Amino acid sequence: MDLFDKCHQFTEARMAQAAGLYPYFIPFSESEGTVVYDGDHRLVMIGSNNYLGLTTHPKVRQAAIRAVEQFGTSCTGSRFLNGTLEMHRELERRLAEYVNKEAALVFSTGFQVNLGTISALVGKGEYVITDKEDHASIIDGCRLAMGTMKRFRHNDMADLERVLSSLPHEAGKLIVVDGVYSMGGDLAPLPEIIALGKKYNARLMVDDAHSIGVLGGGRGTAAHFGVTEDVDLIMGTFSKSFASLGGFIAGDEAVIHYIQHHARSLIFSASMPPSNVAAVLAALEVMQEEPERIERVNAIGDRMRQAYRAMGYNVGESQTPIIPIIIGDDMRTLMTWKRLYEEGVYVNAVIPPGVPPNKSLLRTSYMATHTDEQLDFVLDVFERVGREMGLI
Ligand SMILES: Cc1ncc(COP(=O)(O)O)c(C=O)c1O
Repeated sequence: MDLFDKCHQFTEARMAQAAGLYPYFIPFSESEGTVVYDGDHRLVMIGSNNYLGLTTHPKVRQAAIRAVEQFGTSCTGSRFLNGTLEMHRELERRLAEYVNKEAALVFSTGFQVNLGTISALVGKGEYVITDKEDHASIIDGCRLAMGTMKRFRHNDMADLERVLSSLPHEAGKLIVVDGVYSMGGDLAPLPEIIALGKKYNARLMVDDAHSIGVLGGGRGTAAHFGVTEDVDLIMGTFSKSFASLGGFIAGDEAVIHYIQHHARSLIFSASMPPSNVAAVLAALEVMQEEPERIERVNAIGDRMRQAYRAMGYNVGESQTPIIPIIIGDDMRTLMTWKRLYEEGVYVNAVIPPGVPPNKSLLRTSYMATHTDEQLDFVLDVFERVGREMGLI
């Protein structure tokens, strides 16, 4: 066998493309946030993580442009060596203050935060315990760690207790959960997880990729539940509400200092470019100056969830502006995706391995900048296509 034989035999994606049922890697010719164009075809975007609509905010744009003018396009080096600017430090100070932790550390992507943090902390003879629906970057961080990974059923506290109680009490343990689950839009029950963590000597890390800027007045899931002190590490990304690219980990100063000197995805990778840092700093300011954006995105989430439910769609346990339309069957999911696309609505089609088998769904997500007219249009299309496809 030649190494590349598997590449020549990989035909699934090409067959889906030929059938017009391939929803991935679509290149848009224009994107203004809530509206995108595929050539001349206009689509209302309900598949983005731009929750506060800040990618096109004048202050955020201007901050990025000014940073390019002042510092150029890249730091061309690792944070560890030549790649730290004063603005990286300033962002770390402001983020720590925002999420109410002693210190924060900025990485070049959220994925790298999870890879670097988990692998730095969980050593040989120690354990990392994850929810089965945790994000891929958490799973990969666990695979890189020298310690042992254990998993519990999604949001099932009895199963978490079963796992924790089976481990040596004195061994170091880290529970890692998503604050808001990226496909289901449901929340991790942090108060219960914290109680179990205390009982079984485990630390807690929460991935707030989808909650920063949305829950807890923007400060994330721990703030939403009022349990910030009991969440040891808060992780966030800049690729969603912060309208940029990068990510951070926040916690006690000594822990962050340790991660800073042990996380390989930080040390051996180039730092966030100045324009990305400046965009996050500006976005953080706008989030605090314009809290109505946070209220609006949540109100839109509530409105759409109720409307989909009233039509007869299955939206699972969503409590946030991420609303899955659960269909189950892969082919039906792709065909519905295609009809919505033709009618001018962009959603994300998620089939295994993105979700467990028979749990295929259309992931919809909303922005504070969606207009009521756009949302009416989306609901009208969903009603027509849903009936046509026999979903409602
Ligand atoms: C829950 C979660 N964690 C981490 C990440 C990775 O973030 P980034 O896009 O900054 O690499 C994502 C992004 O998809 C995510 O949804």
